[in-house]
Amino acid sequence: MSLEQQSKHQRKRRVHHFPMLKQRGKKIVIVTAYDYPTGLAADLAGADAILVGDSLGMVALGFGSTIPVTVEIMIHHTAAVSRAAKSAFLIADMPFMSYKISPEQALQTAGRLVQEGGAEAVKLEGGEEVAPAIAKIVAAGIPVMGHVGLMPQSVHRHGGYRVQGRDEETVGELLTAAKAVEDAGAFSVVLEAVDPEVAARITASLSIPTIGIGAGRQCDGQVLVLSDLAGMLPGDPPKFVRRYGTVFEALHHAVQAFAQDVRSGAFPGEENEY
Ligand code: KIV
Repeated sequence: MSLEQQSKHQRKRRVHHFPMLKQRGKKIVIVTAYDYPTGLAADLAGADAILVGDSLGMVALGFGSTIPVTVEIMIHHTAAVSRAAKSAFLIADMPFMSYKISPEQALQTAGRLVQEGGAEAVKLEGGEEVAPAIAKIVAAGIPVMGHVGLMPQSVHRHGGYRVQGRDEETVGELLTAAKAVEDAGAFSVVLEAVDPEVAARITASLSIPTIGIGAGRQCDGQVLVLSDLAGMLPGDPPKFVRRYGTVFEALHHAVQAFAQDVRSGAFPGEENEY
């Protein structure tokens, strides 16, 4: 069966599937994607959801953090992925400064990501402080995914990319933040770089699924950045990543082989001529 035929047999994932998967004890698979080919690969591979993460600032656009990513950039990339995501549920990140000014601003951004980008849900970072924004977006009919623990948009406040929940005070803060996100109406929550025991406690205490990234095995699902898991950039991945491919090397070798063939006169061959 071809990849395309296989995808026709995949059931379209919708928001109500996520709590259902948790209830049934089935692990949830989420992967990031940033354009049509990466979206297609994720969709055809059967991911439950695709996240157009603002990590695209670093892994697709070469910025040093997620902070320079704008709503326009997110819409542009989400729209490309939406043309590929036929089965997976499509979630778009709300970028830095696009939802913390007021719940009205948050709703406006979420509305644009859905209407212009084709997203089916949005994700935003924070706990109690973003609960009114989550409630407003959900009330308008747009599903929201929360994100607590390490929040890359607050890297300057965290003072770097560090594991969260290593002392009693932050454990309490994380539990409160995750509960606030659930109470505000989010359908799931990402736990990023959270101590595995704390992530297990949060997972047991919530009825919505937790999606871990560097948060251990007890979360209801896992998300990884596609470029990390597929090796799309040179260099070693962080500890919490398992590498399943060497895409950068494959691209590098392909271009090297092309260059060699052009320079030696081996390309184009007769079979490549009209
Ligand atoms: O931006 C992103 O890719 C994310 C994931 C790391 C969860 O938020």
